[in-house]
Amino acid sequence: MREIVVSGIRSTGNLHLGNYYGALRNFVKMQYENDCYFFIADLHSLTTHPDPKMLPVNVKNILAEYLAAGLDPEVCSLFIQSDLPEVSELYLLLNMHAYIGELERTASFKDKVRKQPENVNAGLLTYPTLMAADIIIHKATKVPVGKDQEQHLEMTRRFARRFNTLYGVEYFPEPTSYNFGEESVKIPGLDGSGKMGKSEGNCIYLIDDEKTLRKKVMRAVTDEGPQTPNAPQSQPIENLFTIMKIVSSPDTYNYFEEKYNNCEIRYGDMKKQLAEDILQVTTPIRERIAEIKSDEAYLRRVVAQGAEKARENAAKTIAEVKQIMGIHYF
Ligand code: TYM
Repeated sequence: MREIVVSGIRSTGNLHLGNYYGALRNFVKMQYENDCYFFIADLHSLTTHPDPKMLPVNVKNILAEYLAAGLDPEVCSLFIQSDLPEVSELYLLLNMHAYIGELERTASFKDKVRKQPENVNAGLLTYPTLMAADIIIHKATKVPVGKDQEQHLEMTRRFARRFNTLYGVEYFPEPTSYNFGEESVKIPGLDGSGKMGKSEGNCIYLIDDEKTLRKKVMRAVTDEGPQTPNAPQSQPIENLFTIMKIVSSPDTYNYFEEKYNNCEIRYGDMKKQLAEDILQVTTPIRERIAEIKSDEAYLRRVVAQGAEKARENAAKTIAEVKQIMGIHYF
């Protein structure tokens, strides 16, 4: 069945391995068989007050990275979030039915309150309603995202359901996450702790050159090695195996797992192999990024065309939503 697919990535910096495996790789796979709308979430990035000089640089970089990873602008709609003002309008309307309590309980909001207590703005609080607007403005049914976005998607479903119930309509579908039958992906960081993320400073970027990438992987946190056969893995080691499972072949993964279980593992060898396998994925993308980025006229054309396609849907949805809500007077 042809699905309507929507997804985005914030424009807070270059794309990393988590973005690639959690989202971008699936965008590429989905584009041919579905109606896809992929965008750069520049409005969401405003919640952390980016430097106005850096925002255009980041948006262009991410656009080039999307294209280098294989998104085909002739097939999917590739655009910048702020080029669709209808999204901001739907965001405002959805906020009327989003409650402070549920917004305050969102894990990403609580996390930001902890991390940037000096900047707890209303945009952060209503981040999930903007994300819901991005998705339901196209009446999407599938949203390719990593595990960390599942709560936001659950809230999107709740907002869609609430709208339908309140106005007695069957208007918005309830979108679900999509990962090609696999479990949602969470790429951990190399610092032995949580997920790979820009604000965590523990990323392998798609644009990292060979030397930088090898250095980062070789420096990944490990432990003193297993002391007994089949010992449970410490968090840093489990993280390395998690990345290896996603990036390397099953044979490679099984080889190192067996070495670990026999207490014969040499983490240096494992990391060398891991760096090699990551480079297999990132090198061709990195090589294309520079080339694509140099053609500014092409980038401009891509997003203009993408926004035009996306706005057809968006304008129709906004007109219908306003009709449903009674915002039509003369
Ligand atoms: P963002 O920019 O934090 O991440 C973009 C995508 O990358 C995935 N991702 C990961 N997946 C696995 N492991 C990781 N370590 C990892 N880090 C990031 C995320 O799950 C996401 O799919 N709110 C969104 C952007 C957004 C959006 C939307 C997404 C705005 N509107 C509408 C989908 C639909 C965000 O901040 O993602």
